[in-house]
Amino acid sequence: MKTLKYYFAKAKKEKFAIGQFNFSDWSQVKGIIAAAANLKSPIILGTSEGESKFVGSQEAVAMVKILRRKTGLPIFLNLDHAKSFEYIKEAILAGYDMVHFDGSKLPLEENIKISKKVAALAKKHGVVVEGEVGRFGTDASRLYKEKFEIKEEDLTSSADAQLYVKKTGVDVLAVSVGTFHGIDNSGASPNIRLERLKEIAEKVALPLVLHGGSGTPEKDVAQAIGLGICKININTDIRLAFSARLRKMLEINKDEITPYKYLAEPIEAVRAVVEEKIKLFGSVSKA
Ligand code: G3H
Ligand code: ZN
Repeated sequence: MKTLKYYFAKAKKEKFAIGQFNFSDWSQVKGIIAAAANLKSPIILGTSEGESKFVGSQEAVAMVKILRRKTGLPIFLNLDHAKSFEYIKEAILAGYDMVHFDGSKLPLEENIKISKKVAALAKKHGVVVEGEVGRFGTDASRLYKEKFEIKEEDLTSSADAQLYVKKTGVDVLAVSVGTFHGIDNSGASPNIRLERLKEIAEKVALPLVLHGGSGTPEKDVAQAIGLGICKININTDIRLAFSARLRKMLEINKDEITPYKYLAEPIEAVRAVVEEKIKLFGSVSKA
């Protein structure tokens, strides 16, 4: 199988984005993999530190290895938004394909210092590193009751991004260009600051990553991919689809106690959401 670096280079050249789909248990993985297999798409499975601890880092790695072997698909595993060097080390040693160091809350110098250390360790193990400059406004995926405002100062500055990339040696870069984690229930969509993204892409040659992909208008996503976004992270849309269908199933079948019976539909709901995203990201038949 080709490497994750190969798929990032392919995504950049052919202008599509690889979806990163987060999970916290096997049921969601089943839905995500079914979508990737139906559409012959490369995908990245994501676990935050919390999700990874819940699943188990070695268990997650074992699962991905078996799925790769069984499906023949380029399926990769990323540790998402890791804030501690120690946990990144654990994930690398467990066999994650990629790690995302989120030093976005740190002063730039400190972010650079730790990112450099992460990149050096990851390189020794052939692991891809995602760095981050700029802030997404929140740490957890959630539904907002009120309009969520992006602060201008949280957007990635192209000069900071250029300096960070030059000094750290990361492989891909997450940028804050108007999206946020979670979905704004007031109906306001995040809108991607395309001008800012363009400015960053002119200064940074690496594949760029968009976080907070849930609830983002489709036309913005398509344009962002055209400007150099090569990976898009989706979590809330999956959590929503899975939880809503699960609640419904348990309500309808009050006496059902066999998990594989009431979990079939939530898995199907995840498959449907992920297929929509794969089509939007243009990664159909790119495996
Ligand atoms: O790192 C994960 C993502 O950025 C998820 O964002 O929950 O808004 O889809 P989302
Ligand atoms: Zn994120």
